[in-house]
Amino acid sequence: MANEETTVMDRNMAIEAVRVTEAAAMAAWNWTGRGDEMSADAAAVEAMRTALNKLNIDGTVVIGEGERDEAPMLFIGEKVGAGGPKIDIALDPLEGTTLTAKASANAMATLALAPHGGFLNAPDVYMEKIAVGGGLPENLIDINADPSENLHNLANAKGVKVSDLLVCVLDRPRHVELISAIRKTGARIQQISDGDIYGIIETSQPHSRVDMYLGSGGAPEGVLAAAALQCIGGQMQGKLIFRNDDEKNRASKMGIENFDRVYDINDLASGDVIFSATGVTDGGLLHGVHKSSESAVTQSIVMRSMTGTVREITTRHDFDRKLDAND
Ligand code: FBP
Repeated sequence: MANEETTVMDRNMAIEAVRVTEAAAMAAWNWTGRGDEMSADAAAVEAMRTALNKLNIDGTVVIGEGERDEAPMLFIGEKVGAGGPKIDIALDPLEGTTLTAKASANAMATLALAPHGGFLNAPDVYMEKIAVGGGLPENLIDINADPSENLHNLANAKGVKVSDLLVCVLDRPRHVELISAIRKTGARIQQISDGDIYGIIETSQPHSRVDMYLGSGGAPEGVLAAAALQCIGGQMQGKLIFRNDDEKNRASKMGIENFDRVYDINDLASGDVIFSATGVTDGGLLHGVHKSSESAVTQSIVMRSMTGTVREITTRHDFDRKLDAND
């Protein structure tokens, strides 16, 4: 007999999720290359919220634009949807605000859906992350071990030399020591300016050259990346980073008691998870929005953990025939 989770998440929800990320990506695209991160983000948020409110779900944003007092829309705890099954929502309407403002690669709109309780309720703090792709021995990574140990274990599992491995790291001053530790092992490093959801998904892509993701970024992005890896396979761990008492207090209010806890991928995202992303700018995972006078073409990837199905969807949105902004 189907359990509650399987009955809750209709498989057509995957295409609904794509409509939502398409709407956000097209709205953000209008702001590509305009040097205005905030307007790009606001456009994506508003479009995503409008699209979410058309879905037949009783949705709760658990990973969103911030906490209630700091985000006007899609804040943590906000209810969205037109009524239906209880669904928890993790979202980042514009992953890569600076990438969009600079018309740089890999900006995308992202959304994950899970039955109630499927995502870690994390505050908007930093998270230390480690991720590798699928098909590797279980428990291969340990976020508390140093990069050298993790890289040697990965090289052994893959049957290659450590110097053959490519590690993706966000290019940030806080990662100077991490980068130097990786360099000492001989491994290569891909330094990205932004977009660690993309960096983590890259570890699990069939033809990707990225072997491991390491470093700290946003906790919301960590949950979204875990949702994607649950669908395509891969291992991930995360550890919340608290820079002050205020961040700890915010976490406590969300039910987090152990501030040093290591979250495994199943703690970050679990159940029948759907993940969708639509490209805003061209990137390694997705083409960005391409607009002409008559239409916009979007490319999305949507995946489901229950079946492991990954769909790549190219959609042509005809401006003349469009009756509804989310068709
Ligand atoms: P935004 O889209 O909110 O700008 O986030 C981009 C991003 O690079 C994320 O992918 C990453 O998790 C986070 O910023 C890292 O934060 P910071 O820029 O503070 O290092």
